[in-house]
Amino acid sequence: MRNTLGLTFTPLHPVFAAECFGVDISEAISPAIAAAIDDAMDQYAVLVFRRGTPLTTEQQIRFTKSLGELEPPYTKIEAEEGARLDNPLLSDISNLAPGDRILSREDRKRLFTLGNQMWHSDSSYKTVPAKYSALCAHVIPPTGSDTEFADMRAAWDMLDPGTKDQIKDLVTEHSRIFSKGALGIQFTEKELRDFAPVRQPLVRTHPHTGRHSLFLSSHAGRIVGRPLPEALMLLRELTEHATQREFVYRHKWRVGDLVMWDNRVTMHRGRPYEDMKYPRDLRRTTLTCGAPAMEYSQALQ
Ligand code: OGA
Ligand code: MN
Repeated sequence: MRNTLGLTFTPLHPVFAAECFGVDISEAISPAIAAAIDDAMDQYAVLVFRRGTPLTTEQQIRFTKSLGELEPPYTKIEAEEGARLDNPLLSDISNLAPGDRILSREDRKRLFTLGNQMWHSDSSYKTVPAKYSALCAHVIPPTGSDTEFADMRAAWDMLDPGTKDQIKDLVTEHSRIFSKGALGIQFTEKELRDFAPVRQPLVRTHPHTGRHSLFLSSHAGRIVGRPLPEALMLLRELTEHATQREFVYRHKWRVGDLVMWDNRVTMHRGRPYEDMKYPRDLRRTTLTCGAPAMEYSQALQ
């Protein structure tokens, strides 16, 4: 598909995800180009821009901002020596401490980052969750460390009508306490207060396309009105359904790749690699949905 602006989107998977050609995202983009990228995000939910050279901090922030509003800062888990990156608007998705030293086995930032290997939607633990995330690859280890994406619209579509009917109005609670807690991470009193669970609809409706999608995440740990074992069993069942191979695109990183995904309609997870041996440096900018997801959830037909 090539539109009049010279953009081309080549599908990478039968269900979703495409590679975008014909735009230099290191330059400022026009509102028309931004609108075309937004339209492609509505369709593909994951877009890959392969450039060979990582964006600078300023370029990545400018590109992301041309598609919406950046998320406000949230409690960060940093290496013992503090932040590595020069700009708080970037999330440091790496196994590195300041000075690019590999984090020690026990470092809390390393242990938190391991949680990215569970299927999740970014910031689903915030009342106002994330819209797009844009992740740019600076250093990639020789093996492993792919990122997988799953299409939550396809997952909804493929549920049987009875299940759709049973779950369509359910409300879940999300918190980092549930996701990182499942890995055995302990929290301070302040973190327990900061990470208080927030409510999210289990089924979302996309504001432009009207398509429904499952809103699942490793951060989801309760269903309002359901006993805990029943809630966890249902969330586990739905997550297994939603992450079947046919709904999953696996991205093999090259340095300079920027992958952007819509957290409203996808989940993602990192895959393991030898993180005590090889550096891996990716940097993320994140756009906010701008309003609580609960406000977008409408009665489904
Ligand atoms: C993220 C994330 C997975 C990865 O950047 O939000 O979950 O493979 N990344 O690093
Ligand atoms: Mn993530």
